Amino acid sequence: MSVALASQLREGTKKAHTMAENTGFVSCFLKGVVDKASYRTLVADLWYVYSAMEEEIGRLADHAVVGQINFAALNRRETLEQDLAFYFGADWRHQIKATPGAQAYVARIHRIAKEAPELLVGHHYTRYIGDLSGGQILKNIAQKAMNLGEHDGLRFYEFAAIPDEKGFKTNYRAVLDNLPIDQTMADRIVAEANEAFHCNMKMFQELEGNLVAAIGKVLFGFLTRRQRAGSTEVVAA
Ligand code: HEM
Repeated sequence: MSVALASQLREGTKKAHTMAENTGFVSCFLKGVVDKASYRTLVADLWYVYSAMEEEIGRLADHAVVGQINFAALNRRETLEQDLAFYFGADWRHQIKATPGAQAYVARIHRIAKEAPELLVGHHYTRYIGDLSGGQILKNIAQKAMNLGEHDGLRFYEFAAIPDEKGFKTNYRAVLDNLPIDQTMADRIVAEANEAFHCNMKMFQELEGNLVAAIGKVLFGFLTRRQRAGSTEVVAA
């Protein structure tokens, strides 16, 4: 039996998508306000998340459902490692630590891979199809905001093995619609995709704290500089 999972996922996560877009970190990012320290923390968190997803999906390559979404061309772990080497240096592995939000996200991926592997489809869809959809826009914003070159620090957004992203997504949706699942499982996958959005929002909210602190620091520096400049004027007068 097959169900129209692709459109159910799109419709069933619309609200969560809007909520994710409206988190402080993401909306600042969209406006070009990107703090490099927060951004590299996100890259590190994503490395933990994609490593977990790619490890579990690779392990389940022969699973009747999970095996069908095991597209090597989507894998992000290696691109994230290139970006981590750029932001943290060659020793990046010893410098990064998953935030609590990323730790909870990773734990959830491992748990469902063990207990109900089919639900990994919800996680896969949320991250990889999101990356394929918003990727280019986000790459351009990050590039401008952090003054980066063409590729360094931006490999995560590049799908070298997918020249036709639109065509890939059309095929991916057809695969989703032909998965051997019933409606009850489809409902659970949509619910899990919403959980995946929620996990992402939690990670973004943690970064908001850093971003606010960074903006606060800049503002504080600006105000104290003005004050100092002001007091010089007073002395000079
Ligand atoms: C930074 C803000 C974001 C922008 C500008 C953005 C942009 C877009 C756009 C334009 C589409 C439609 C693409 C199409 O119709 O083919 C889309 C779809 C999608 N986005 Fe986002 N997005 C953002 C944030 C996110 C986040 C944070 C996630 C999840 C972590 C996400 C997951 C998805 C998914 C799963 C789809 C596919 C929907 C479908 O089934 O067609 N997006 N996004």
